[in-house]
Amino acid sequence: MSVDLIALNPIFNTRSSKFDSARKMEITNVMEYEALAKEKLPKMIYDYYASGAEDQWTLKENRNAFSRILFRPRILIDVSKIDLTTTVLGFKISMPIMIAPTAMQKMAHPDGEYATARAAAAAGTIMTLSSWGTSSVEEVASTGPGVRFFQLYVYKDRNIVTQLVKRAEKAGFKAIVLTVDTPRLGRRESDIKNRFILPQNLSLRNFDGLNLGKLDKTDDSGLASYVAGQVDRSLSWKDVKWLQSITPLPILVKGVLTAEDARIAVQSGVAGIIVSNHGARQLDYVPATIVALEEVVEATQRRVPVFLDGGVRRGTDVFKALALGASGVFIGRPVVFSLAVDGEAGIRKTLQMLHDELELTMALSGCRSLAEITRNHIAAPWDPPRVGSKL
Ligand SMILES: Cc1cc2nc3c(=O)[nH]c(=O)nc-3n(C[C@H](O)[C@H](O)[C@H](O)COP(=O)(O)O)c2cc1C
Repeated sequence: MSVDLIALNPIFNTRSSKFDSARKMEITNVMEYEALAKEKLPKMIYDYYASGAEDQWTLKENRNAFSRILFRPRILIDVSKIDLTTTVLGFKISMPIMIAPTAMQKMAHPDGEYATARAAAAAGTIMTLSSWGTSSVEEVASTGPGVRFFQLYVYKDRNIVTQLVKRAEKAGFKAIVLTVDTPRLGRRESDIKNRFILPQNLSLRNFDGLNLGKLDKTDDSGLASYVAGQVDRSLSWKDVKWLQSITPLPILVKGVLTAEDARIAVQSGVAGIIVSNHGARQLDYVPATIVALEEVVEATQRRVPVFLDGGVRRGTDVFKALALGASGVFIGRPVVFSLAVDGEAGIRKTLQMLHDELELTMALSGCRSLAEITRNHIAAPWDPPRVGSKL
């Protein structure tokens, strides 16, 4: 059914035969969706989803850094039963893998955020809806039950922010994910070259009717101009207090990369921290999130949960993040690429593959529950040498 909908949508290319044949091959890992999505989506849209900032060093490093962390598996442990369940902000979920906010999902597939919400609910995990969704908080809530978080960009006009937060509360969203790494948009050069705009038939539904201007043609990336016009560059820690004063919802700060900021976040009373470099789309040459994670975890002294996103493509990546102290991870691009290729079914498959890979990684490492995953199950390049030690 999703395939027919794709064919009907005017913003999609006619599918190439290469795409059709590739699609018939069995997909065995989440990374394979990217090449198929590239085949299928208009260049401007694929580039928007795929790209990072400037030299894209951090984009590559988000993946490469995972590959430098190795396992120290334990053997002869009865792993006939493995439990992947966990609790996030009091909500029990099926696995420590959740969905990060990614903007404008209807560019990938006509079902957009609806498909994401349904796939997340079916998998028993959490979806984060972007402020810049092409579906509104009410529309996503209408898909049925499911634990959902709302990602917030703070606009200059605070009345708009207050209204939006209230709408998210009313629509049953359970937490606010405050993105703190975007006072301005990072330079994504393909968006500048492509003069990125939101296709005519779509809009940022949360802001419909607010007369904020559209993501229109400029001689730059349309999104960069929009952000410069609307997003509040003066945002500071005092605004976290302000946000706490307007909503009872727990607040997660997304975009922390240093111990210094982790300490301030804890002092500010946030409910959790997401170690994120925005999928390498903001400041280039920041470290991979998996490299920054441990200092943030240490700085919080475990007073709040710490999550990670950025480059998570394998169950082994999830395990490594947990071993370094994360309480869970979020995935961004794997969702939009699998959505583009196969709608809700694609995202379901992405979540299932990551679930199964994590389960297998745990079994092969001798861990029966997430609590059994320890720092000693991995070796990171920054660890002191073990040879000669008394371990
Ligand atoms: C296409 C795209 C759109 C994104 N939109 C948002 C957004 O609206 N708000 C936000 O806080 N982060 C946004 N992000 C960042 C993601 O939430 C997340 O940090 C990142 O995608 C994780 O890295 P990964 O894509 O390697 O999994 C976006 C990322 C991508 C790739």
